[in-house]
Amino acid sequence: MKTALFLAFTFLFFGSSIASDEPEAVLDISGQGLRTDADYYVLPVVRGRGGGLTLDSADNETLCPLFVVQEQLEVDTGLPLYFSPVNVEQGVIRESTDLNVIFNASTLCIQGTLWSLVYDEPLQKFVVAAGGAAGNPGRETLNNWFKIEKFDDDYKFIFCPAVCDTCRPVCGDLGVIIVNGIRRLALTDDPLKVMFRRA
Ligand SMILES: *[C@@H]1O[C@H](CO)[C@@H](O)[C@H](O)[C@H]1NC(C)=O
Ligand SMILES: *[C@@H]1O[C@H](CO)[C@@H](O)[C@H](O)[C@H]1NC(C)=O
Repeated sequence: MKTALFLAFTFLFFGSSIASDEPEAVLDISGQGLRTDADYYVLPVVRGRGGGLTLDSADNETLCPLFVVQEQLEVDTGLPLYFSPVNVEQGVIRESTDLNVIFNASTLCIQGTLWSLVYDEPLQKFVVAAGGAAGNPGRETLNNWFKIEKFDDDYKFIFCPAVCDTCRPVCGDLGVIIVNGIRRLALTDDPLKVMFRRA
């Protein structure tokens, strides 16, 4: 009980210190701050190595489940998506804060279009799949929370959720791994440098 109280106070203290020292707003390519009520394409900064982020199955034989992948062609923007931060304040998306990332698209698969980290046994890697429900921060939804961080003059996605005090999640950058010719978003040491364009 004492521990629980202590944790609660630590959380309150920590929570308020974050609020008074807010991280920077994430900007789109026109210099506007990202907003919760708008859709964006996530595009690669480095040219000639794939296009925007989209959903696809992991092979040619199955339609579902869907994973987050990068378009093969640079000219393809992928699907529009939006962000739902754990603390919505004034509809602004900020760096280094926990967010749900949701493709604003309908699919034939039942899992939905929310980003969720899953462990792929054959690949022995954590990859980003579509699945789960938005909101409800905590242990059960740990895999659904991502962060946008500054990466040189652009951005990258990381997985390192802080929505559960007692959890010890794997933390890392999201980058692209190529499996059977498909450019899949996964936890890797080589982050994908991205920019955001309003859809
Ligand atoms: C998602 O798309 C629908 C239909 O185009 C649009 O009305 C809605 O505003 C979008 N949602 C967000 C959060 O951008
Ligand atoms: C899937 O199809 C593409 C293009 O038709 C091909 O290049 C690729 O090798 C195929 N992958 C598998 C796993 O069959």
